[in-house]
Amino acid sequence: MTAVHGEREPIVRISDAAVVLGGRTVWSQVGFDVQPGEFLGLIGTNGTGKTTLLRAILGTVPLAEGSIQVLGHARGRGHDLGYVPQKVVVDPDLPLRARDVVALGLDGAKVGLPLRTRSTWERVERALGAVDAQDLSERRIGRLSGGQQQRVLLAQSLVSDPKLVLLDEPLANLDPASVQEIVALLGRISRERNMAVILTAHDMNPLLPVLDRIVYLAKGHAAVGTTQEVARTDVLTRLYGSPIEVVTVHGRVVILPASGAPDTEAVHHSEPVQREPLP
Ligand SMILES: Nc1ncnc2c1ncn2[C@@H]1O[C@H](COP(=O)(O)OP(=O)(O)O)[C@@H](O)[C@H]1O
Ligand SMILES: [Mg+2]
Repeated sequence: MTAVHGEREPIVRISDAAVVLGGRTVWSQVGFDVQPGEFLGLIGTNGTGKTTLLRAILGTVPLAEGSIQVLGHARGRGHDLGYVPQKVVVDPDLPLRARDVVALGLDGAKVGLPLRTRSTWERVERALGAVDAQDLSERRIGRLSGGQQQRVLLAQSLVSDPKLVLLDEPLANLDPASVQEIVALLGRISRERNMAVILTAHDMNPLLPVLDRIVYLAKGHAAVGTTQEVARTDVLTRLYGSPIEVVTVHGRVVILPASGAPDTEAVHHSEPVQREPLP
């Protein structure tokens, strides 16, 4: 079957996919489409397989079952796909300016010394402008704050004008003000460019203003829908296979094992709101 990528074709189509790593099934029976311009949150606690799902979309981990199509083609990283991996640690003394880091996003799979023309730098400056980071252009990447580095990496993933970007935990290690800024920025860029975003996070709450749908991973399976459809006591109880309670406190979605008393830390602290149910 040949698929031609047309207007109505989804950007990503995942059908009944499963990944096995080290003899263990990370997840299985995962299936969903991502539409052009859609903002999708991939939500789950540590170790549930969020990074693995992004890597499966990129084509860097094999599928044990099912299929994944990206832009109507077999999987793979190309110029129509931007990717920011999890936890990019940058050496403070790395002799690269922000603009050099962004330019790497245009090199794709090319081998050899990259050619930097005037139009390259114009594209780089436009990408930095899109993330409000033009003033960082000449700064050394390792000397920037976490939030500034995240903007530069985002610019790198945008510089080739992709129709899809995959962002792995871009909000981790950011202070709350930077989290809000980056979320708002991503929502705006996605809308303006009709660019699909798949973003992983362990906490969906900061993303609620921009999420179109979520894929919630737990216990090797996924629940897919809008946050209202998925963040529900019955849906997550079925997914976890044990009683879960979903409550909304001051507009925040809080997921708790139903047998445990709702502890105040889980309600007020942004990190451990989604925890594994008690065994
Ligand atoms: N290369 C690998 N070999 C074996 N197990 C792996 C490998 N990579 C990841 N895993 C396991 O797969 C599971 C999911 O990992 P990951 O996708 O990184 O989760 P998340 O991003 O949600 O924290 C974890 O249990 C992890 O230990
Ligand atoms: Mg991960």
